[in-house]
Amino acid sequence: MTGDDPLEESAQGEPLPDGGAAGADDVALDPWGSSSVSDYRKLFEEFGIEEFDEVLEEVPNPHYLMRRGVIFGHRDYRPVARALQNDEPAAVLSGFMPTGDPHIGHKLVFDEIIWHQQQGADAYALIADLEANSARGMSWDEIDEHARNYLLSLLALGFDPEAGELYRQSAHREVQDLAFDLGAEANFSELQAIYGFDGETDVSHMQSVVTQMADILYPQLEEPKPTVIPVGPDQDPHVRLARDLAERMRFFKVSEAYASFELGPVERDLVAEFYERLDPAEFDDDTLRCVHVAEALEEAPLSELGVPADILSSVLTKLNEAGMEPIRPRTRFSDRRATEKAFDALIDAIEGEKRVYENHVDAFEIDRDEAEELARQVEVDTGGYGFRPPSSIYHRFMTGLTGGKMSSSIPASHISLLDDPEDGYNKVKSATTGGRETAEEQREKGGKADECPVYELYAYLLAGDDDEFAKRVYDECVGGERLCGDCKEQAAQLMREFLADHQEKRDEVEELLEAAEIELESPRRR
Ligand code: TRP
Ligand code: SF4
Repeated sequence: MTGDDPLEESAQGEPLPDGGAAGADDVALDPWGSSSVSDYRKLFEEFGIEEFDEVLEEVPNPHYLMRRGVIFGHRDYRPVARALQNDEPAAVLSGFMPTGDPHIGHKLVFDEIIWHQQQGADAYALIADLEANSARGMSWDEIDEHARNYLLSLLALGFDPEAGELYRQSAHREVQDLAFDLGAEANFSELQAIYGFDGETDVSHMQSVVTQMADILYPQLEEPKPTVIPVGPDQDPHVRLARDLAERMRFFKVSEAYASFELGPVERDLVAEFYERLDPAEFDDDTLRCVHVAEALEEAPLSELGVPADILSSVLTKLNEAGMEPIRPRTRFSDRRATEKAFDALIDAIEGEKRVYENHVDAFEIDRDEAEELARQVEVDTGGYGFRPPSSIYHRFMTGLTGGKMSSSIPASHISLLDDPEDGYNKVKSATTGGRETAEEQREKGGKADECPVYELYAYLLAGDDDEFAKRVYDECVGGERLCGDCKEQAAQLMREFLADHQEKRDEVEELLEAAEIELESPRRR
């Protein structure tokens, strides 16, 4: 799509009264709250989600949801894009809470998983039955029924169950073991801060959180690899926690250092700057020593250094205490939770000049990236996980057909993948549009495709891979050549066809599902 991205402005929700200051829930990302986002820009500014457009170029054969900006954001997707490009190991995983029928919003995630699988990633899809039971109070019978429906749609859309893995949280021993391990790294205060848990939160709900953490890291159990979690932005708190836990499980932390002591990040930047600035030839025996840097820092005016006074004084103390120790850049491996065996193995594995301290090893001939790889390799070889921080991609929520948000609890607002094709046709026919009051006005001013749920249907689903078609609908709409009646008729017909075709495929994959290694009936009761 060229020029202005027609989806760029399609974020729905309450317009902010003063164009800015949002109430707390406008920007809160709550995995169990209402999934609507009033302003996607805030997700970049306040949560540090990155714009997908910036990695798009590095993605081989990008999916149309990527090309059209439906996938609008990501965390750390680059390693995944690169792995796909270079045919290196990568994985994709997402999970579904079986609380109702799968609908066209879930199809986005199904498509994302399938696309990554087709690009060569190991693909995983799971049924979040523990979460549905604990966070949503679904009975096991309901869960079984819905789970089956999700899985049939996923298979019908092209998931290959032989190459990929389907599982349900409750029945996966390795996932539960991993959850237990990860749970040891998180405490209640943290879950409270992230999810707003309190004294009333039941323990099973908390267990479902650590289970999701385990889901997210599970693809790396055999071997660390770039892994992407395609989800809606409401799941971002889970992604952030999983990234933190992945890091906390690591045996070693790799950092850059200049002398034997530890520096904080700002302190390190300051020393790095002076290391670059000062010429060793100006000092006795041509060596730059800690005291020299301390002296230079003391002479520089605080305003020029641009750091808080307490940081400066802490660096000075460290430098002066180290005194005549030479300043030499090095790569540091700090022991986080390594076993003795792992620490010894690391020492052996470091080539070239190295210095061993009680809780760290400094290497003088290894750069940062090499060091990261080495640390991970040693960790894996000595029984650790060596997790890479998982990546994520985020798609926009679809607008409900009745305006407002698309919600499983309002049947007319969404189209279920199980809807009778005729019902699907009718729902589209009665959808809200971005059209003008009269045909005349529409011809004159054009329709508001950016605010039109029907246009969204074209862009997110009905146009499929055909960008030209999606663009034509958009251009004709905003140019006033397209009127809503015909436009909806066309969309409604396409929807009817899509549903009929999808449901036929669902019937065809029944056997595939029976053959897949996933428990379809839970032995649980309650
Ligand atoms: N919490 C997700 C939801 O509400 C479901 C889920 C469970 C999940 N485990 C996951 C999503 C792992 C992504 C990755 O739908
Ligand atoms: Fe929406 Fe189509 Fe009407 Fe444009 S013409 S506002 S895309 S229904």
